[in-house]
Amino acid sequence: MSKLLALLQDGRFHSGQALGEALGISRSSVWKQLQRIEKEFDLRIHKVQGRGYRLIDPFVPYDRERLASTLKDIGWTLHLHDVVDSTNSEALRLLGQGIEAPFVVLSERQTGGRGRRGRAWISPAGQNLYYSLGITIHNGPHQLAGMSLVIGLAVRDALHRLGVPDVGLKWPNDVYASGRKIAGILLELTGDPAGECHVVIGIGINCNMSAANSAIDQPWTSLRNELGKGIDRNQLLLVLSESLRGYLHRHEVEGFASLRLEWEANHIWHGLVASLSAGDREIVGEILGVDADGCLRLLVDGSERTFSGGELRLR
Ligand code: BTN
Repeated sequence: MSKLLALLQDGRFHSGQALGEALGISRSSVWKQLQRIEKEFDLRIHKVQGRGYRLIDPFVPYDRERLASTLKDIGWTLHLHDVVDSTNSEALRLLGQGIEAPFVVLSERQTGGRGRRGRAWISPAGQNLYYSLGITIHNGPHQLAGMSLVIGLAVRDALHRLGVPDVGLKWPNDVYASGRKIAGILLELTGDPAGECHVVIGIGINCNMSAANSAIDQPWTSLRNELGKGIDRNQLLLVLSESLRGYLHRHEVEGFASLRLEWEANHIWHGLVASLSAGDREIVGEILGVDADGCLRLLVDGSERTFSGGELRLR
């Protein structure tokens, strides 16, 4: 994180001279660095003659030392970036280079954030959490069954613990608050799923993003909206990591069957009639719940059917 950017985090005006003096550089170097920061982080800086510079959407940067040392205590290493294309892509590259899992890739900004079904994930600098956890899977298909739903439970638990009043899940793993999407999850697998393989668990949580700077094509909310105040992403990251560790451990030891009822209790559309688009098919049915592998159970024309993938919509 640039020192100049850190000086602007209070959201107040700072004169070019004061910034130059604090950094031991000239006013024209301050100006050049600000232009570079605006471009690199895609940030908006308010410039007013006679008053100086102000960051329009200030944010609390990640605390590298604190995060690295707390994650180290649970055996995870941290790879923190100012900018990457996608934390999931970076995690997959690290695995390809033989870097040992578990590790967390975190970035202030993503230039090519990826969502499910080939969608983009809007990732402005400093406003949200862009997090990927790389793990090793030792028990093959048994450990993978229901995993993406379990990650949803862990994210829900973390947000609930931070005080978000009404958090729920939408199959397979969208996280909703007050009926709008607050977090998304993208799991990517590498290696042989029948034997030892790796999974990258990508999580995006809307934290302090304001409605003004987003181009999201569905109703969404953020922690700021739900809590009525901004959130320190450092705290969120630690609570989230703790939840993930607990749920992943339980899933590995007991399997999804032991978490199925908890998942169903948190499904926001449980018992409702919805349509599922799976490939080029559109199936309408009543949501009965999920099976022991996390597949969706729908009551379609009087008989129960299960689905392993697709996109749910309310009718
Ligand atoms: C979705 O709901 O469509 C899933 C969104 C997942 C977004 C996260 S942000 C961190 C990680 N890196 C990515 O490129 N995607 C995931």
